Amino acid sequence: MGYNSEKIAAMIRDDGVHKAVYTDPEIFDLEMEKVWGRAWIFVAHESQVPEAGSFYSTTLARQPVLLVREDEETINLFFNRCAHKGAKVIEQESGKSKVLRCGYHGWSYDMSGRCRHVTGGDEAYRAIGVDKSSACMSLTKVPSVANYRGFIFASLSPDAPDIKTWLGATATSIDNMVDRSPVGRLEVTGGTLRYSHDSNWKFFVENLNDMMHAMIAHQSSAQTARVMGKQLFPDDKNVPSEIQILSPFAENTDFFEEMGVHAFENGHSYSGGKTSIHAGYSGIPEYEESMLNAYGKEKVEEIFSLNRHNTVVYPSFTLKGAIQTIRVVKPISVDQTVIESWTLRLVGAPDEMLQRSILYCNLINSSGNLVGPDDHEAYHRLQHGLGSDAGDWVSMGRHIGAEEPNEEGGLSATGSSDMVFRSQFKAWKAYMTAANGAA
Ligand code: FES
Ligand SMILES: [Fe+2]
Repeated sequence: MGYNSEKIAAMIRDDGVHKAVYTDPEIFDLEMEKVWGRAWIFVAHESQVPEAGSFYSTTLARQPVLLVREDEETINLFFNRCAHKGAKVIEQESGKSKVLRCGYHGWSYDMSGRCRHVTGGDEAYRAIGVDKSSACMSLTKVPSVANYRGFIFASLSPDAPDIKTWLGATATSIDNMVDRSPVGRLEVTGGTLRYSHDSNWKFFVENLNDMMHAMIAHQSSAQTARVMGKQLFPDDKNVPSEIQILSPFAENTDFFEEMGVHAFENGHSYSGGKTSIHAGYSGIPEYEESMLNAYGKEKVEEIFSLNRHNTVVYPSFTLKGAIQTIRVVKPISVDQTVIESWTLRLVGAPDEMLQRSILYCNLINSSGNLVGPDDHEAYHRLQHGLGSDAGDWVSMGRHIGAEEPNEEGGLSATGSSDMVFRSQFKAWKAYMTAANGAA
């Protein structure tokens, strides 16, 4: 169709968006360049490269990248592309090595990305004036990398803004997750749940703060847990974690309205705050004691009083501080998205905390369990339904104009407002219509 800024801007109205933002492959290619090529994108947690020589191979806006720990202080992020003929240097997802050796012709790099070995010697390149020490024989660094409290983000733009400023209020969601460790440290643990969706990436990112769907889409799973819980544990004592985790997804409309949604610059948002679906879990005395010893009563109360549900760091990263899980968005094509779900351990906390996080991830985020597949089905229906000729526009006008400024510099609204979606598309439009090079 040949989109220019004017055509793209016309696809976003105050109260809705043109369906092509979800269905047109040309828009998707532009998004990879203008949104995913400019924003800070989540790469990994620093605990995934714990020691010198540790590496973690992943993607950034579909490009293969390699995170490598050089020493205690330095973590590097390279494009995973050999300086020789361009093969991916490391295919394995993670590991530890003394050198990064390309499996094709054996060129090898150290952890700073410098070439240390050229098979057959680098004299062969004398005629063109290069040798092992030349930049063109080294691994190429990703232009911008930032570490916010252990969470590593990168941008393909050399002019990326300061990460903390860019994160805005969502930085406090990360702070809260880290502060829930008595020693202020997190570790990614276990493997990942990697889940392929046959739908556009934006459906997932919108849904995390869609407070109108849970009691409908999750009725069959969560309501069943709720009813069973009431039958089997009428006095609310010794309720198993499974029931505690699943039941709140079937709360009534008032509960989700009360949780509220909060939107900020750059498309970021979170839901909940004073209360959320995580607020009713029973306490773990040993953990609470270790937190009191570490931080004192006042600070611990402050940490535990923040009960956000989902935080979205637009466009790639979502987290649940209260249960220590993250989900990472990996767009593949206009109608295919991989979602990775990771569990984090609160270093210094009893194992029971980790077990609850793992249980949560398995019950809610796994493709083979109860809640996640409900959402997957909804995204599938969205992608399929928008393929019809019934109209070009997708409605996002609910509670428009009723949002209120909040203390963190953003806007807040009742849970069922479409404000978060409008805010995401405001950021989307700004990225998509910015002049080349501007973030
Ligand atoms: S492509 Fe890597 S050594 Fe040749
Ligand atoms: Fe859901």
